[in-house]
Amino acid sequence: EEMPRTPVIWVHGLECTCCSESFIRSAHPLAGDVVLSMISLDYDDTLMAAAGHQAEEAMRDTIERYRGNYILAVEGNPPLNEDGMYCIVGGKPFVDQLREAAEHAKAIISWGACASYGCVQAAHPNPTRAVPVHQVITDKPIIRVPGCPPIAEVMTGVITYMLTFDRLPELDRQGRPAMFYGQRIHDKCYRRPHFDAGQFVEAWDDENARRGYCLYKMGCKGPTTYNACSTVRWNEGVSFPIQSGHGCIGCSEDGFWDQGSFYDRV
Ligand code: SF4
Ligand code: SF4
Ligand code: F3S
Repeated sequence: EEMPRTPVIWVHGLECTCCSESFIRSAHPLAGDVVLSMISLDYDDTLMAAAGHQAEEAMRDTIERYRGNYILAVEGNPPLNEDGMYCIVGGKPFVDQLREAAEHAKAIISWGACASYGCVQAAHPNPTRAVPVHQVITDKPIIRVPGCPPIAEVMTGVITYMLTFDRLPELDRQGRPAMFYGQRIHDKCYRRPHFDAGQFVEAWDDENARRGYCLYKMGCKGPTTYNACSTVRWNEGVSFPIQSGHGCIGCSEDGFWDQGSFYDRV
């Protein structure tokens, strides 16, 4: 007998939408299979056919019919300044939609650095007072899947785990699934032998860059960043930032946007 599909409500606050862009490119499992046969994506501003009042009704229906049984996925975050007016959805501040959708959710997934930590819109001095989801919703289990964006297969992997075992995966101290965020980029980086041998890139495009030496002196944050990029990699395992010649900017770590990863040396 076929299992009923778990309803998912996916809301969007202040964000760039590239968490969705990443998600739809998952190859294992295929994002299409997740959306069409594993979950029932009852509401998603960016991926649903319905629009306007019809879309809002779909969300209300799902909350009513599946109280306590649906998963809430959050991409982006709520800005709290000026009563939330910096992000309006369906004529209301996003923070209201978030509270409404969270109230009867079974669990919440915070996608990406925006929902998990705040990300660039929360960068100092954070004029809209954008805050991560857990600062607004404090009475629900929240699983954080950070990264800017997170790896597609990590996103679908988290969903698959939750559906298969009907529980949250084991989380680390920051609320991230340990199975994907248990190791530093540096632990499995293929340039690690160069680090250990003291062989470093000293300037962009220097001889050592062409030799593929370690990017630590160019600002690589791999030694302090927990994510699966050096093992799972991106685009069906083809590559990841360091492999394309740039250091890791620590996009799965809290506060990376304010910590000099973007060449800000003022
Ligand atoms: Fe975009 Fe990054 Fe926010 Fe995801 S975490 S919505 S990729 S800014
Ligand atoms: Fe570590 Fe970065 Fe060097 Fe890789 S490139 S070995 S992650 S410092
Ligand atoms: Fe982000 Fe670093 Fe991976 S910048 S994409 S965690 S290599």
